[in-house]
Amino acid sequence: MTIANRRHFVLGVATAAATASLPAAAQTPNPVQTFAKLPNLDPVKMATDMPYWSAVQSLYAVSTKTLNLENGYWGIMAEPVRADYLAKTDMVNRENSFYARTQFGRDAQAARVELAQAVGADATEIAFTRGATEAMQLLIGGYNKLKAGDTVMYSDLDYDSMQFAMNWLAERRGVKVVKFNIPEPATQANVMAAYQKALDENPKTSLLLLTHVSHRTGLVMPVAEIAKLAKSKGVAVVLDAAHSWGQMDFKVDQLGVDFIGFNLHKWIGAPLGVGFVYIAKSRLGDIDRFMNDEDFPVTDIRSRVHTGTTNFAAILTVPTALKLHAEIGPKAKALRLQHLRNYWVSRVRSFKGMEILTPDEPGMYAGITSFRLAGKTTAAANNEIVTELREKHGIFSVRRAGVAKGQCIRISPALFTSEADLDKFVAAMAIICAA
Ligand SMILES: Cc1ncc(COP(=O)(O)O)c(C=O)c1O
Repeated sequence: MTIANRRHFVLGVATAAATASLPAAAQTPNPVQTFAKLPNLDPVKMATDMPYWSAVQSLYAVSTKTLNLENGYWGIMAEPVRADYLAKTDMVNRENSFYARTQFGRDAQAARVELAQAVGADATEIAFTRGATEAMQLLIGGYNKLKAGDTVMYSDLDYDSMQFAMNWLAERRGVKVVKFNIPEPATQANVMAAYQKALDENPKTSLLLLTHVSHRTGLVMPVAEIAKLAKSKGVAVVLDAAHSWGQMDFKVDQLGVDFIGFNLHKWIGAPLGVGFVYIAKSRLGDIDRFMNDEDFPVTDIRSRVHTGTTNFAAILTVPTALKLHAEIGPKAKALRLQHLRNYWVSRVRSFKGMEILTPDEPGMYAGITSFRLAGKTTAAANNEIVTELREKHGIFSVRRAGVAKGQCIRISPALFTSEADLDKFVAAMAIICAA
């Protein structure tokens, strides 16, 4: 199959769907939509199908000032999504409070229904937030089953502000906080053993913070297995899925977790400022209504979030981002990101002093992976490498702290990253490691 006959462009489909419910005055001509249809290849071949991925890469307008391998912070919008977001922003600005008061509620509800379908939840189990932070805070702060004297638990790899929220529970709820370290190098077996040991040693544990994909190392946790273990001990799990959905392909029911915070502005490529919370229907009562909400009945998950005046256009653009995500293919995307990770990891692994912080074990890595050079565990040592990569090689990366065995450098390719980009990174690391 050639690129020519593979490119069945679906011109304007995303934008047409997303603008269908807007006032006539708000509808704008379709921006140019050029995404190729997914080739019908087997999964492994799909990840390396160059013509397909270069068509996908062409959907992104990316600065050439630097080679950005730090796409874990947030995910830029593809051009069709960005165009739709700008159109929605113009519409909201033009139609003003009339739109916000008369139609936004319906349009947001339609977006919520589409989102629920995409993640495999019931619409009554999800609510929009401004990101994973807001979702996780309302879950951790609102969990109302804690009693003084209970234990809450997290690991070194969990996100800083979620660790802080768990620490806050000590003061507010009188609980004991236990932190333990994830083994390094990690394997599925030793990670499971670490959770088993931590829970066995702390039988009063009632709440466990768990992160699906670590922002520090990229390690993918065996969430379903840990959740099963926790459940068997009567421990509730609150899952930080800020980095997973979109980078990985799954539906909520595969996780076995009742409380989850998600982002849409990382790996789904929605505008900045959107995420969502998932609370399993049967557990809604375990999370308090938000302190400033009486707008929704207590039986409605939206009473757990009260953001105030929000970026309407960002929420309105979610269906377009989901549409592109579906058209590129959630599975293809996940495999492509894994392929990009494998591409650079397999080439640098033998370099002097190289420590790769995610194992090659299937299920334990996605697109993000961090590395450390042996003995270089401090902020200063890692900053030096980040600076050398940026200033001598034109490559942008980020230092990550908080890993028990020492600091590291995170590499997070995006869908617009090519193998040639990674060759450049590998060449830079060859020079750095040989020095
Ligand atoms: C693991 C993890 N959790 C939560 C967050 C917070 O996400 P946001 O700042 O988009 O709300 C991040 C952000 O990078 C993260 O990496």
